Amino acid sequence: MLNSYGHLYVHIPFCPKVCPYCSFYKEASDRNKTAAFLDAVLAEVDRRMESMTLRPRTIFFGGGTPSALSTPQLEYLLGGLRSRLDLSRLREWTIEMNPATVSLEKAILLRDLGVNRISMGVQSWDPGLLLTLGRVHSAEQARRSFAILREAGFDNVNLDLIFGIPGQTSRQWEESLRATVALGPEHIAAYCLTYEEDTAYFERFAKGEFVQDENFDADLLETTMDILGRAGYGQYEISNHARPGRECRHNLAYWSGRDYLGLGPSAFSTVGERRWQNIPDTAAYIAAIAQKEWPVGFSETVGPRARRMERVAFGLRTRRGVRRSWLVDKEAAIREFSDLGLLETPPGRVRLSPKGRLLADSVAEELA
Ligand SMILES: C[S@@+](CC[C@H](N)C(=O)[O-])C[C@H]1O[C@@H](n2cnc3c(N)ncnc32)[C@H](O)[C@@H]1O
Ligand code: SF4
Repeated sequence: MLNSYGHLYVHIPFCPKVCPYCSFYKEASDRNKTAAFLDAVLAEVDRRMESMTLRPRTIFFGGGTPSALSTPQLEYLLGGLRSRLDLSRLREWTIEMNPATVSLEKAILLRDLGVNRISMGVQSWDPGLLLTLGRVHSAEQARRSFAILREAGFDNVNLDLIFGIPGQTSRQWEESLRATVALGPEHIAAYCLTYEEDTAYFERFAKGEFVQDENFDADLLETTMDILGRAGYGQYEISNHARPGRECRHNLAYWSGRDYLGLGPSAFSTVGERRWQNIPDTAAYIAAIAQKEWPVGFSETVGPRARRMERVAFGLRTRRGVRRSWLVDKEAAIREFSDLGLLETPPGRVRLSPKGRLLADSVAEELA
């Protein structure tokens, strides 16, 4: 029987401008490469479908910036996917957008082609901090783009924010949260800035020009939980907050350890004990597909124990937590963290308390 995939990820490696803090695989948009890239992704789908059926429940177009594609390019890619996939089970189709690449025409096309969730990177509403982050858009443009998404009929929108930006005060963070809440998106992702290797920010961090203060970051996370909680957003994962019923199904599937297929350069796939990553290089990815080779750069076997540990690490970050039976050899640590008020232990489960969420990485490190 052919494997059937419930969750599909498509990586679009182009951005209007590369941000200095970001380590996702991407490059500045390049007109000369885009057409070949779109054909390569569709060819990868065709090849995968020789040995598996694709009946996704969720699709996630991430990047990079999928909205960096023009409206006709998106029509070509999404139309090509629609004609190949069985979408009868599809519940959620998300596309990531950058505010600088949203237009009404594009948004309406996406809606018409079946996309029902948008995730837009706002990062901050403060003009100075947007400059610090090297963002290509203004706060005003982000506001206009959000209005366009609503006008096009999107009723499930996530806005990404970043805290812990160099120079950001707690007041500025509170203001960004309140400005976001005032718009009323269904979902808010609030990420703590991480200094990722091979980024311009990392170099400045390594030189001591930027410093990270974990206590201050924990204070900002506490403010986030407080403001978003009061505004009716449930924190269903450390960085993710949603109105009831608007949790991202695709990410929930990842975190609960479901299999997924990833298409495009740098995309990961996990199927049973097999995990692979496509080549993180757009030209090499296109060339491999053209030569009818698998565009895989790396693969490994992930045994049941390793997969369970991953589930613990991801699951602990979620509101549901994990099964206590997965942590039989960690009873002493569970008791210790519970006594410290960092863990809660409802029958059969282990999850972080609100205080524990502020120290999530340290607790997960001990338990996973
Ligand atoms: C692939 S981008 C999404 C959309 C689009 N490319 C954009 O930036 O508008 C995913 C999100 O990851 C977050 N992100 C990227 N690099 C990060 C970093 N170093 N630390 C924290 N969050 C980061 C940003 O909030 C960003 O919106
Ligand atoms: S944050 Fe978004 S727009 Fe900026 S480089 Fe990363 S993927 Fe591209």
